[in-house]
Amino acid sequence: MKRPTFASLFVIGFLGLPAAGLAQGNSCLDCHKELDGALQAAAVAFAQDVHGQFGLSCRDCHGGNPATDDVDKAKDKSFKGAPKRERIPEFCGGCHADAAKMRGFNPSLRVDQLDQYWTSRHGQRLKAGDAKVAVCTDCHGAHGVQTARFPKSMTFPWNIPQTCGRCHADKALMASYLLPAGQLEDYRASVHARALFDKKDLSAPACNDCHGNHGAYPPEVGSVSGVCRQCHPSAGELFAKSPHKKAFVEIEAGECGACHGNHKIEAPTNALIGSTAGSACIQCHEAGSKAWTTAAELRSLLEEFESGTASAEVALDAADRKGVEVSEARFKLQDVHTILVSAKNLTHGLDLAEIRKAIVDGENALAEVEAAGQKALAEARFRRRGLVVATICLALLAAALALKIRRLKEKRMAS
Ligand code: HEC
Ligand code: HEC
Ligand code: HEC
Ligand code: HEC
Ligand code: HEC
Ligand code: HEC
Ligand code: HEC
Ligand code: HEC
Ligand code: HEC
Repeated sequence: MKRPTFASLFVIGFLGLPAAGLAQGNSCLDCHKELDGALQAAAVAFAQDVHGQFGLSCRDCHGGNPATDDVDKAKDKSFKGAPKRERIPEFCGGCHADAAKMRGFNPSLRVDQLDQYWTSRHGQRLKAGDAKVAVCTDCHGAHGVQTARFPKSMTFPWNIPQTCGRCHADKALMASYLLPAGQLEDYRASVHARALFDKKDLSAPACNDCHGNHGAYPPEVGSVSGVCRQCHPSAGELFAKSPHKKAFVEIEAGECGACHGNHKIEAPTNALIGSTAGSACIQCHEAGSKAWTTAAELRSLLEEFESGTASAEVALDAADRKGVEVSEARFKLQDVHTILVSAKNLTHGLDLAEIRKAIVDGENALAEVEAAGQKALAEARFRRRGLVVATICLALLAAALALKIRRLKEKRMAS
């Protein structure tokens, strides 16, 4: 059923008719829809609001009397108006931190957002009187609040960078806190953003997956790897066994960030390791040191193996284009790729012997690819040789036939 409009309420009021049905109506909504600017925007946005979908209304947050179209009566003693920014967390927490209240709506919804919020840098700064930090409505909106599962929600993964970036990419605002403002731009250039936006891979992290939703706080140096490890467990385990583990704690280097960066994380290549420009290792290791030598050796091991893999691939492609059947060799090449990925992963452990062993396995597998490739080529050559013989036979046959036909023709002409 269509709700009575402001105009119809006005007519009812004007004619002095009893306001039938008004008790179930919502004069707040109806009146505000007819206003303009922010007063109207609140009512319009509410059509998409999760609170409205759960049967809550203006009054549940703002108080007041929605059963009268008289402004003064509507804003009665119970009317709370719009909360100031610094009051918003408690305002929303009035329900969201009240387990008994929330249970009636959705027993599985967490009720720790407010508690968590106070532990975050945002919450701590707000408590200290700084209202420029994020409050609930900066990340969720006030009207038109949506669950994170709704793709248009401010908290849906691919809207999050924008939600946080509204403040964190604001250079002037961040400069006043002596904070860098490049996280959004850096993040956008990362392998994670490409996965999230281009591949629509929702398992790739947005800001909140590394920083938390409500306890938004940069992880302490020691816990950074904990964040990355949730999704990259094997690199994490190898790192933990490596000599870097203890050393990085001592020099307070970010466990993963020291080599990969925190936001502009790119798909790594062999250039990241070794003793030449672009390598992460030379930030900390001096030329000639044991670690420097190890870095250089790891680089050449990986490079050689990777270029061997690449040439095998080129050769198979070329054979494929000529119509040679190379599926068996290709199948074996997949094993080589797996070994290459795992050898790169093993660099996190810094265990030279272990990596050498992986590369020996890889080279054996590569030899099998080559053998399979050679076999395919030999078969193709054999078939081609067969084809040449067949073609010659056919040509001879054709020539013989032509001769025969000519002779027959000559015979016919003569007779
Ligand atoms: C979930 C709680 C909640 C509900 C439900 C709610 N509001 Fe609000 N409203 C807020 C908060 C919080 C603010 C202040 C924050 C802001 O302005 O962004 C606010 C601000 C407002 C403002 C002031 C806007 C401004 O910028 O000056 C108006 C007007 C308003 N609400 C009207 C309504 C109306 C009408 C409804 C029903 C259609 C409604 N609200 C439902 C939480 C709520
Ligand atoms: C007949 C029209 C009308 C009705 C009914 C009405 N409002 Fe308003 N409301 C206004 C106007 C006009 C303003 C701006 C002037 C002002 O602040 O009083 C306003 C301002 C507001 C504000 C922002 C200013 C503040 O005090 O914080 C909120 C929030 C609000 N209304 C909520 C409500 C709620 C909740 C109801 C229902 C219980 C309601 N309104 C019913 C016309 C109405
Ligand atoms: C009057 C009680 C009440 C107030 C005040 C309130 N909420 Fe809610 N909120 C609810 C209820 C009930 C739900 C529906 C439960 C659900 O979504 O499962 C809900 C749902 C939500 C959801 C969606 C949760 C999900 O993922 O399912 C978000 C986000 C949210 N509220 C944020 C806010 C914010 C931000 C404020 C303050 C501006 C606020 N709420 C104020 C009661 C309230
Ligand atoms: C810095 C941004 C930010 C702030 C501030 C914030 N939230 Fe959230 N909130 C999020 C994100 C992001 C999610 C979605 C998590 C997900 O992906 O499921 C979320 C989820 C929620 C949910 C759904 C249940 C849950 O915990 O996952 C509720 C309810 C909620 N927030 C309420 C609040 C309340 C109340 C406040 C203020 C005390 C608040 N939020 C402050 C970012 C924020
Ligand atoms: C309304 C603006 C605003 C929004 C939106 C916002 N923040 Fe913030 N945030 C701030 C301000 C201002 C600070 C500076 C507080 C300080 O550190 O003194 C801050 C601090 C931080 C810090 C601590 C930085 C440091 O080392 O001091 C992190 C981490 C952070 N925010 C992450 C996020 C994430 C993640 C989101 C989105 C989910 C987000 N913020 C949304 C304003 C915002
Ligand atoms: C892959 C994980 C990850 C993602 C995604 C991520 N961050 Fe960070 N962020 C970090 C790490 C790690 C640090 C460094 C923490 C430390 O030094 O203790 C950091 C630091 C920060 C800081 C503190 C200042 C600085 O630059 O060192 C802010 C502010 C921040 N991030 C905001 C954001 C915002 C906004 C987004 C989304 C656009 C985002 N982060 C995405 C991991 C991430
Ligand atoms: C929420 C899960 C998640 C978190 C947290 C996370 N990542 Fe990722 N990461 C991914 C996914 C998914 C990909 C795959 C992207 C693709 O190639 O499709 C990826 C890709 C990468 C890659 C490129 C891998 C390659 O083979 O090209 C690196 C390097 C990386 N992440 C490092 C990090 C670091 C460092 C951190 C912590 C600061 C981190 N990640 C945190 C999920 C995560
Ligand atoms: C943030 C600084 C930093 C970066 C970057 C870094 N290391 Fe280290 N590394 C250390 C420290 C500190 C130690 C322990 C002290 C030492 O042996 O120099 C160490 C130790 C080592 C060791 C053990 C040395 C030994 O004597 O047993 C090896 C091997 C090593 N690093 C290799 C590498 C490689 C390879 C890279 C690049 C992929 C790299 N490191 C990048 C700081 C770093
Ligand atoms: C000492 C420098 C260094 C540190 C510290 C480091 N990495 Fe790496 N990472 C590398 C190098 C070098 C490569 C391989 C580059 C190549 O040869 O392609 C790599 C490759 C990767 C890859 C892609 C290959 C694979 O393993 O799947 C991921 C993902 C990754 N690192 C995640 C992490 C995570 C998570 C951490 C923290 C636990 C971390 N890295 C710490 C240097 C480092």
